[in-house]
Amino acid sequence: MNTFAVATLQEEVRGLARERGAVILAHNYQLPEVQDIADYVGDSLGLSHQAQATDADTIVFCGVHFMAETAAILCPDKTVLIPDPDAGCSLAASITAEQLRHWKSQHPGAVVVSYVNTTAEVKAESDYCCTSGNARAVIEAIPADHQILFLPDMFLGVWLERVTGRKLTIWLGECHVHAGIRPADIQLWQTEAPDAELLVHPECGCASQCMAFGNDRTHILSTEQMVRFATQSPKQRFLVATEIGILHRLNQEAPGKTFEAVSENAICKYMKMITLEKVRDTLRDGKHEVSVDKDIADRARLAIERMVAIA
Ligand code: 13P
Ligand code: SF4
Repeated sequence: MNTFAVATLQEEVRGLARERGAVILAHNYQLPEVQDIADYVGDSLGLSHQAQATDADTIVFCGVHFMAETAAILCPDKTVLIPDPDAGCSLAASITAEQLRHWKSQHPGAVVVSYVNTTAEVKAESDYCCTSGNARAVIEAIPADHQILFLPDMFLGVWLERVTGRKLTIWLGECHVHAGIRPADIQLWQTEAPDAELLVHPECGCASQCMAFGNDRTHILSTEQMVRFATQSPKQRFLVATEIGILHRLNQEAPGKTFEAVSENAICKYMKMITLEKVRDTLRDGKHEVSVDKDIADRARLAIERMVAIA
């Protein structure tokens, strides 16, 4: 699509959102042209806060399915629409509620902390939910004598063990996008760009994190924390180890600074399934409502509300 066609479609989307009284929320990994029509762009935690805070009756969620589902659970009186219901998440798919029930039965009395990248059914089996933005605070809020089952991301789990000093029992799931950012990618940049700060998402592979811990130019951050860090830092150059959609947001928020992807291949195909055309169709036709079975939603809400309450 040429620039004019994109701008025309964006105008149509904004007009339809006004007519419908809808708020558009977009994740930091969304396509640039989708981020640009959103009322709010942010990470999983920020989007949950925005969903809860909005006065709008309809939320159009530009992100993957578990994120829209989380908004639907937090806001049972609002209509949550997703432009493509097939926008999944390989990490969320790495554990089912049945697998979690079995795991819990092997560890009676343990506290279950689920990353937000999970289905509603898995959240309903959990005591706490967390995002990369508050995972550390959630773990630290749990009394030290409790065993914690942490799921589903093993790299985030290992990072949490390091920063909290707690021993966690960790599910062996991973995000294929972040696991694909290899230690060699980091190493290359460490030598080629000694003047740059390195921003690493905690879902990235364990080996790259271990190396990354070796110097004070490296920062393990959620996507929103990366934006905050880059805008507040006096530094000019940043290497970014996460999904490359974040580069658009970083460039918008910190114009004049330089942001480079550690791996150009770090693309989440699910996030990219949300296109401007699909956002337009969703708003025009009111389609792809995300709804969660009431019993599951009621059980999952407690864990999610605990997540939203812990900053
Ligand atoms: P954030 O919570 O940092 O936005 O990350 C979400 C996600 O899906 C990372 O892959
Ligand atoms: Fe899921 Fe990974 Fe995509 Fe994030 S980047 S939505 S964890 S598949």
